[in-house]
Amino acid sequence: MTTITINGKKLNAEEGMTVLEKARDAGIYIPTLCSHEALKPYGACRLCVVEVTNGNMVSIETSCTYPALEGVKVKTDTDRVKKVRKLVLELLLARCPNPKELKALGEEMGIKEAPLRMSLKNDFCILCGQCVRACHEVVGAGAISFTKRGNEKKVDTPFHETSEDCIGCGTCVFVCPTGVIKMRDVSDAVFYYPEGHDDLGPMRMMQNWQKELKLKECKSCGNPYAPEFLLETLGKRINAPRDAFDLCPTCREPKK
Ligand code: FES
Repeated sequence: MTTITINGKKLNAEEGMTVLEKARDAGIYIPTLCSHEALKPYGACRLCVVEVTNGNMVSIETSCTYPALEGVKVKTDTDRVKKVRKLVLELLLARCPNPKELKALGEEMGIKEAPLRMSLKNDFCILCGQCVRACHEVVGAGAISFTKRGNEKKVDTPFHETSEDCIGCGTCVFVCPTGVIKMRDVSDAVFYYPEGHDDLGPMRMMQNWQKELKLKECKSCGNPYAPEFLLETLGKRINAPRDAFDLCPTCREPKK
């Protein structure tokens, strides 16, 4: 257990906690965009900056990566902190002026208009990398990563080709803070080609990763509920019996 001070309040923090975790625990607001409880701290967006006094050193640090060390004093809303956060957000808005999450933070910080503007095709991705980390760290699929450099940098599948490794779990969609990643389930997909067409049935489309996956239908209620590839992968990982995923989660519930 360590003792840290945040905004003049003495707080006990568990070993291994970050300043952000302790602040949240104590109900102290720090804006964030790239921090997720399921993922390791990464420090990509820089919005969570705070002022830290550690001994004689005073510095601006990202609270999501800074450990709650014994004796450190943290201030979350000094003029210096507000100025740095505003600059960080202006840069994010210069890249991505449209996501409503960024606009709301901009209003909170008194930014009426981003002073700069980069002209990008995809101006919803802030490159926080949450989707990439979730795909690697949580799902273990590693289907996407950062590609290209400079203002061409983006998240994509290798060589922008259909991802072999994407299992269609949708974790990237759920962790994305700006909603740029799209997933769509369709009940009756049809593939047309010059000589005719194939009825594909229920499918999941991972639109950003050019991946289409067949959905498994529940043996009891018939509802499509998860991509077959996801269930196969999961079955292999946990060595599940062949019929482990025959039923959807609802039909698997014990009857009352
Ligand atoms: S939340 Fe800390 S850098 Fe993004």
